Amino acid sequence: MTNNLMPEVLISEDEILHRVDQFAEQISTEYKDKGELVLVGVLKGAFILLADLSRRLTVPHRVEFIAVSSYGRSSTSTGAVRMLMDVREDIKDKNVVIVEDIIDTGHTLHYLISLFENRAPASLRTCVLVRKASRAEVDVEVDYLGFDIPDVWVVGYGLDFAERSRTLPYIGVVTPDN
Ligand code: PRP
Repeated sequence: MTNNLMPEVLISEDEILHRVDQFAEQISTEYKDKGELVLVGVLKGAFILLADLSRRLTVPHRVEFIAVSSYGRSSTSTGAVRMLMDVREDIKDKNVVIVEDIIDTGHTLHYLISLFENRAPASLRTCVLVRKASRAEVDVEVDYLGFDIPDVWVVGYGLDFAERSRTLPYIGVVTPDN
């Protein structure tokens, strides 16, 4: 991988945090006096967005995490998604916002929306920082979207390349060597 240490900036830290401020303001307004709010972060990539977003909310909320793994993404595009770790608390009758770092093919979020809809939440929305619209294989509704990006490999702010560069404060572009 080239440019591993200092990937080229695609979305700066300021741009990201400004958008997260906007998410927090909008969610805090829309969920005021609406009952219990649960943010569900999708591991691992969403952990930084979830931390920054949750600390900016002015409405009471809980945080939960879920972990899934996908098979065959980018190579065979099977779209199969497997649960690795479920949320701890029941989401029935709760207002749920799924928090994701990225939509690539859309299969992960599509799976999670179906999974949660079957659990009868009071409401279900999605908050996603970046989306590769040109890679979409399934339509997924995003209620709070940060940025549409081109089909490039991105790292930082939770996103990794082989577990590297997740904690870069900005979103950068890397080019795999092979
Ligand atoms: C990434 C990302 C999403 C998913 C999106 O997770 O965090 O969960 O892929 O891809 P899709 O739209 O094609 O389904 P990844 O499997 O890389 O795991 P990680 O978050 O633990 O790095």
